[in-house]
Amino acid sequence: MGARRVTVLVSGRGSNLAALADAAGQRDFAGTITHVVSNRPAARALDIARARGVPTTVVDHTWFATREAFDAELARAVEQAEPALVVLAGFMRVLTDAFVRRFDGRLINVHPSLLPAYPGLHTHRRALADGVKVHGCTVHFVTPEVDVGPIIAQAAVPVLPDDDEGALAARVLRQEHRLLPAAVHWYCAGRLTLHAGRVRVHDAPVAEGALLCPAPDPMWTA
Ligand code: GRF
Repeated sequence: MGARRVTVLVSGRGSNLAALADAAGQRDFAGTITHVVSNRPAARALDIARARGVPTTVVDHTWFATREAFDAELARAVEQAEPALVVLAGFMRVLTDAFVRRFDGRLINVHPSLLPAYPGLHTHRRALADGVKVHGCTVHFVTPEVDVGPIIAQAAVPVLPDDDEGALAARVLRQEHRLLPAAVHWYCAGRLTLHAGRVRVHDAPVAEGALLCPAPDPMWTA
């Protein structure tokens, strides 16, 4: 089987797109990025795609009077590249139910928190305000309700005493750049199954142990 076609939807910086494209360039990666679609004409992610020779389309949401009209055109643009998988990588528009249903089961998102904690925006600021010690990111299937779809994979990071929003965001983002390519590879390799709202990743190594933050003094961990 050849590499499966992946369309990536973006709105801004594009660091997740770059991480995914780097991974997809490696031998044995099961997906290939065949199309990048942005709702913002000035998104830096578009330059990242172009620099790698990936075809791009802009569907600017400001051209449309309604969310439904925008999503209909977006869906048309996405369908053109016949993707096996559609990835939201920093795509900052809430999608209509109609769009989500159309791509049901082949639409995934990377979100900068350990869902179901902190759906929505400003996740790092909210985590700091709550004083949590562990934060992270999630890759999940997209369902009509925002940030609640079945979880494929998560990565946890410690929240350190001197963290500000930028420091914490950067620590989480490094994990997004590992987690998203892994999830895309698993999907494209046919290694994900969904049953009763739980995603199983087949043949994935089991992570042993736990992240404890702050780390206990050595006398308890010997
Ligand atoms: C990421 O933190 C992603 O989780 C969130 O928006 C950010 C996009 O960053 N949805 P980038 O455009 O991939 O650099």
